Amino acid sequence: MKIVRTIADASGLPTCDGTVGLVPTMGAFHEGHLALFRAARAENDVVVASLFVNPAQFGANEDLAAYPRDEERDAAVAAEAGVDVLFAPGADELYPPGFQTWVEVEELGSRLEGEHRPGHFRGVATICLKLFNIVRPDRAYFGQKDAQQVAVVKRMVRDLDLDLGIRVVPTVRDADGLALSSRNAYLSPKERERALALPRALATKDLAQARARLNGLDVDYVEVADFEPSVLAAAVRVGKTRLIDNVILDKEPA
Ligand code: PAF
Repeated sequence: MKIVRTIADASGLPTCDGTVGLVPTMGAFHEGHLALFRAARAENDVVVASLFVNPAQFGANEDLAAYPRDEERDAAVAAEAGVDVLFAPGADELYPPGFQTWVEVEELGSRLEGEHRPGHFRGVATICLKLFNIVRPDRAYFGQKDAQQVAVVKRMVRDLDLDLGIRVVPTVRDADGLALSSRNAYLSPKERERALALPRALATKDLAQARARLNGLDVDYVEVADFEPSVLAAAVRVGKTRLIDNVILDKEPA
């Protein structure tokens, strides 16, 4: 696996040799990332993963500084999973001095997560568009766990006439039901036990029941979101850790 750090090197990939699949990531790889790498590996000739903890999608009081970083381990995991190129730029490479152009997916990006994390989806949409422009993938891979991120990215792709496919890979869960997330590492064993209320509430696939089951926790929101497909989505805080999760709602019988 080749590690590249500059836009110039990431742009010079052998795209003429076949299709390119891009897996945008912020590192701290777990089984959820492996599922994305496998999906990309299965349908592309070249697999590129980006590893960039994007400062623009973190709010001032969020966990940018604490976000888990271990590039050496991540590179080994990605290589083992069959990633061909790891694009791991520094912040100045992607946001050079004078940077001032942003992508705003207005309505979709301002509710649910967007309401509780103002500016988050502006940062996500902007970095994704930059990565798409740099790597020029045929397909990009995202996890269903971040359902609103998927909706925002798909909307941007449609609105800006981008020429790539967005692939969505099912959420990977631990045996106890907790959705895998790099932020799970912040949870103490006791907090992790409390966090299980989130997947259990969502598994009811019923808004009223989910609300009742989350009663007593620090809930940012629990809502049915009309993404494609519709999901029951929630965000809760357990200690200092903020967790999001969702389940796809079955279609109404015809
Ligand atoms: O889901 C993530 O890890 C990030 O939001 C992404 C898509 C890599 C953009 O920074």
